[in-house]
This record gives sequence, structure tokens and C-alpha cells, in this order.
Amino acid sequence: MTSNTERMIEPLAGTYNLSDYEEVRNNFTWDNIDSKLNIAYETIDRHVDDGYGKKTALHYVNGDERISYTFQEVKEKTDHYARILKRNGVKKSDRVFVFLPKTPECYIAILAVIKIGAIAGPLFEAFMEDAVRDRINDCEGTLLITDKDMAKRVPRGDIPSLKTILYAEDIEAEPYLNTGEDYVEWMDKEDGMLIHYTSGSTGKPKGVLLAHKVLPHQYHSGKWVLDIKDDDIYWCTSHPGWVTGSVYGIFAPWLNRATIVIQGGRFKAEEWYKLIAELKVTIWYSAPTAFRMLLSQGDILKNYDLSSLRHILSVGEPLNPEVIYWAWQELGVRIHDTWWMTETGAHLVVNLPGEKIKPGSMGRPFPGIEIGILDEAGKIVPRGETGQLAVKTPWPGMMKDIWGNKDKFNSYFKYEGWYISGDLAYQDAEDFIFFQSRDDDMINSAGERIGPFEVESKLIEHEAIQEAGVIGKPDKLRGEIVKAFIVLRNGYKESPKLLEEIRVFVRNNLAAHAAPKEIEVMQELPKTTISGKILRRELKKTEIEKINAVNSI
Ligand code: PRX
Repeated sequence: MTSNTERMIEPLAGTYNLSDYEEVRNNFTWDNIDSKLNIAYETIDRHVDDGYGKKTALHYVNGDERISYTFQEVKEKTDHYARILKRNGVKKSDRVFVFLPKTPECYIAILAVIKIGAIAGPLFEAFMEDAVRDRINDCEGTLLITDKDMAKRVPRGDIPSLKTILYAEDIEAEPYLNTGEDYVEWMDKEDGMLIHYTSGSTGKPKGVLLAHKVLPHQYHSGKWVLDIKDDDIYWCTSHPGWVTGSVYGIFAPWLNRATIVIQGGRFKAEEWYKLIAELKVTIWYSAPTAFRMLLSQGDILKNYDLSSLRHILSVGEPLNPEVIYWAWQELGVRIHDTWWMTETGAHLVVNLPGEKIKPGSMGRPFPGIEIGILDEAGKIVPRGETGQLAVKTPWPGMMKDIWGNKDKFNSYFKYEGWYISGDLAYQDAEDFIFFQSRDDDMINSAGERIGPFEVESKLIEHEAIQEAGVIGKPDKLRGEIVKAFIVLRNGYKESPKLLEEIRVFVRNNLAAHAAPKEIEVMQELPKTTISGKILRRELKKTEIEKINAVNSI
């Protein structure tokens, strides 16, 4: 612990939107929302009404393709989508899913859904049939916006609630009609706006519902943590199907009137550096795995002019100090770690650009947020001791509900007045918080949450598999990788071909990121004696011992 707290990096000289953390934190209280609101209006239309219609809202880059839209154009496009959604019978509080690649249409569709008072369910672009079906079925989505290619992965016949599928190509082809109609539905602060499905250690993914009251939390974190100013070019690399891609890819930056970058296509170091240099990106929000991949590419960054970068942020998984020192040395800027979750709606623990950072720490509580490190009885532990990372309730971004699952929702609040994150951490004397691990079996691979149960359920659907146990195996690049331990049915023999077939089976039905990177065949799996439940922790312990043994040779 001491080695972590002794090393720190002071902020770069500059003017930041939040200049005195202690003072703001001591005096800050959340605005009281006492009138109707609509977060999609605040995100786009408000800026047009305020006279910024001509400002560039987005740059889209995909290979050689380049598109830019002003706030006026984004407003018109959201109105266009809104009109078509209404024509198709979408009503307030309906669940409307968006299954599109990282394109302007994806961002615009999500905003249009929210603008008319419905709840947007963004889906990650790499989801396969089962993942798409389970999510739409769970909250009975009635309409889906997708494209003709991705629609092949929508098992429509298995989704009874889904009345309509709209193709982005058709919506784009239809001319925009300036009807003069105002499509904004004014909402109560408790009304839902966004539903993201997220994995835990048990059961299928749960629908985390955020409400319009999240607005001040997303706005202030965009202002203070992203530090957005009017001339910034802001790039968040996450797809809006993940909460980072929606909250910090769409809402927080646009609530602060930023010009955002949308990058299509897959990760490639050269493409990323080229994009930063070409668009002169100033603020960049990404994840440790991406930074580690860039770091491993060595000197190629020297071929690009990256001097526009003034602020870098990270989220989703532990950010190792080595990566911070790399950026500090190669780019002359720090990487600011941030901690939050789908369930929390916006940042909770942050490193601010105007404050010192301690590499290895996720930062300090966001103003208006109180963090507690709790023991098993729900009592605060002494500083420096590891415990359950908890948040004092309520705060504006806090989820409104877990769709159709009150027991699950209540399980986050088992100690009066606290939200329990499921992470373990400690806090030092200066309030800096250090992530230790998850407190459950949830897997975090490259910043993506993967539920072992979901992967195990898919594995045992394969004809060769009798039993399966899935864990996150520590990995230098991705933080963890998915590793499956399986017992084969009688009559099946282990072979590289069979294991590959099993991997592809999970990838094709669930999602590529959930497919086990390693599969180990066992004679039997460790189980509890009483209930016969598979002991994932036992599997993980043995795996870590194996890694340590190899490392010590
Ligand atoms: O375990 C923590 C990890 O990601 C979980 C939340 O995942 P998700 O809901 O998908 O949201 C990801 C981005 C908001 C947390 O419970 N996590 C998130 N940020 C960090 C982190 N682990 C370590 N350091 C972080 N900065």
C-alpha cells in the first residue's frame, strides 16, 4: 500500500472546470429537479435553442469515410427518427431497442427514442442471436431499430413482444419533413430513459433502468471529470451498447455541448493514432486493455502528431500504473482513472485533471457522492483496510430499477442507506480509493462484464458437454480471460477440433467476448458437498496457483 500512496503525479499547469476539489466537495449539493424534463432535449435541442445550431456536434470516421453533423443537423435527424417512431405507434415508456454499429445513426436513434418519452435499449453490435433475444424478451421491447445486415442476428420469431423492426437504411432514405412539430415528451424525473443489460455472477443479464433524473450527475461529471470546454474534440471509444458508450459517448459530452468523435470499425493502433492526429482530438476516454494494446505496439505512436491530446481518461477495469507512466512519458499527459458501474448511472470515484493522481488508485469520491468501505456487518472499516466498496444512497445517477426483478434490485441495498457495488477496495488517509478485486464470480475481460452463469448455460447446451464451470483467468493484456472447465458426456473424446467447435458454438450464439479463450477438460468439477453447486472459486484458486508456479520458475 505505501508504495502506491508514495508515488503520485501532479497535474499539468492549466485551467480546469473544477479548480478546487476540496472546496467544491465540501459545499456541493445536487440540484433539486422540480419540473418536467427530457434528457434528449438537454443533450441536443437545447444547444440549438441557445444559438449553437451551427456548431459541429459530431465527426464520424470509418476507414476512408468522413461525415460531420452540426447540432442543428443532429436535432433534425432525431426529429426525423422521432416522427417515424411515433408513426409506428411507439408510446411513452415503451422499450425500443437499437442494434446498430458505431455510426451516427446509432447515436441519433437512441436520442430519438428518449426524446419521445420511450426507453432506449442499446445493444452491443457484436451480440449474437441469444444475447439479442434474451434482452428484448426480458423487458418486452416492442420495436427495434437495426440495419439489414445485423437483422440477420435477430431471431424475430422468438421475440413475441417485438411488433416492428425498422431498418436504419430505410429511415435514412426517407426525406426529412420539417413539420414544425415538437417531438419532445416532457417527463417526470423518475421516468425511465435508458435500459442497459449487464452481467453478474448469477442468472441471465439484468436490465438496469436509468431515469431522467440522472441528468445533473451526467452533466457535472462531463464538465468536471471530462473537463469539456467549447473548443474540445472529444472521443470516447466505447460502443453505446455499453454504459460507457452511452453515458460518456453520448450524454455527458453532449450535455456539455462537446464536438464528439464516432469511430467505426475495429481496434487497430495505427487507425486510432491516425484519427487523433487528423481530428486533433483533445480529450480521449478509453479502457486499460486498449491502452495496454497501444503500449505493446511500441514506437509506432512516434509516427503520429498526438500533441493535441490534453486529457486522457480510463474506465472499466484496473488501470495499472505502468500504463499511466507510459502515457506520461510518451504523450506528456496523465491517464485519469474513473470508477463507476452500469447501475450507478455516472462517475462515482474520479481523478480530476486539476488534482494530483496516485497511479494505482481509481481516485477520490465525486462531489455529492459519499463512499464507504464496509465490513461484513455493514460498518465502515479503518482506513487502509479492504472491504466492500459502497455508496451512500441516494444520488441522481442511481439506477431506478432492475427490470422485473425486485429481489435482485434489493440485493444491492442490504445495508440500510448503502448501495453495495460488489467490488472490494480500500481507501487511504487522503481519501484515494484502491480497487482490489470483485467480491463475486463476475468476470471482467477487457472491461466487459461477463456472467459465468450465462457462459456455463450456453456451454451445456452443446451436445458434448455434461457440466461446465467458468472463471476469469488473470491475463496481462485483458485483465482476465474467460476460461471454461468442462466434463464431457460419455462417448465424446477431447480433441483440438472439438474444443474449437465448442468455442465457436458460444461465440456464434452468445457473443465473441463471452466465448472461452481457454477450455480445459476435466474428469469432474469441484462441488459443494451439500448442494452440489460448482465451486468456481476453487477452480480459480487452482488456476492462480498454476500461474504463480509457472511465474516462479
Ligand atoms: O468491477 C468494477 C469494474 O467494472 C464493474 C462495472 O462494470 P460495468 O457495469 O460494465 O461498467 C463499466 C464502466 C462503467 C465494476 O463493478 N470497474 C469499473 N471501473 C473500474 C473497474 N475496476 C477497476 N478500476 C476501474 N476504474
